[in-house]
Amino acid sequence: MTTTTKPSALITGGTSGIGLAAARELGRLGHPVFLCARDEQKVKQTVEDLRGEGLTVDGAAADVRSRESVTALVAAAVEAFGPIGVLVNNAGRSGGGVTADIADDLWYDVIDTNLNSVFLVTREVLKKGGLSDAAYGRIINIASTAGKQGVLLGAPYSASKHGVVGFTKALGRELAPSGVTVNAVCPGYVETPMAQRVRQGYAAAWDTTEDYVQEQFEAKIPLGRYSTPEEVAALVGYLASGPAASITAQALNVCGGLGNF
Ligand SMILES: NC(=O)c1ccc[n+]([C@@H]2O[C@H](COP(=O)([O-])OP(=O)(O)OC[C@H]3O[C@@H](n4cnc5c(N)ncnc54)[C@H](OP(=O)(O)O)[C@@H]3O)[C@@H](O)[C@H]2O)c1
Repeated sequence: MTTTTKPSALITGGTSGIGLAAARELGRLGHPVFLCARDEQKVKQTVEDLRGEGLTVDGAAADVRSRESVTALVAAAVEAFGPIGVLVNNAGRSGGGVTADIADDLWYDVIDTNLNSVFLVTREVLKKGGLSDAAYGRIINIASTAGKQGVLLGAPYSASKHGVVGFTKALGRELAPSGVTVNAVCPGYVETPMAQRVRQGYAAAWDTTEDYVQEQFEAKIPLGRYSTPEEVAALVGYLASGPAASITAQALNVCGGLGNF
């Protein structure tokens, strides 16, 4: 049976892939979970599904690229479950190509979605979400192994995720005296709808099949396979827990050995 005595959690991008798995994991651990994504229908359906599993969940449509939307999101989360104790900045997108051909719009959207959003949501949660005053605080940013090494044909994505890792390390040091921890989780290849889109993109760029791309990617991973969203979510659950209190300002890989740093 689920208890709801734990601090509430806000998860961005909670309707798919890693964010959905993290919502389920934190819900099962007893955190009331407020989630968002841009697609309102998917938010409603996800909330309904997770409630059907006995979890305490609510949500709202929000676009983490928009300051106004972020303000409304944090207000709605506090309205639903009180002060936010756990923030998971997960919403993100892929994006890249031959750098000389990258359009302004693509570059700015990847940086807005993956990096500027992390600043906007975190700032709002610290100012209005009750996290900075909370007895218990956890900020968990879903970065990537691409935030530690360059990804071929992924300059905007890699730049955005390196930015998330840098933000995490700096904020972790800043908030350490308050006991609020700030960490990045760095997945490698994780089987999600985004991963499928990434394989499609490389198949087009290399004029080959998605199966061939998948083989090439799997050959780079020491464990020989993609990680699962649940494996990433398990680390999110641990970082949100009491015993993780001394882990802060870190960027931790969940990648089957792909990243070795
Ligand atoms: N899958 C991987 O291999 C992998 C590896 C390393 C890191 N990551 C990172 O893990 C995170 C989750 O990835 P995933 O693979 O689970 O992706 P996914 O399956 O595509 O899910 C992305 C989620 O983010 C939401 N989202 C996207 N843009 C948004 C926006 N502007 N505002 C609010 N919500 C937004 C999406 O819903 P809407 O479209 O409805 O908004 C969806 O709920 C991302 O930060 C990604 O970079 C993934």
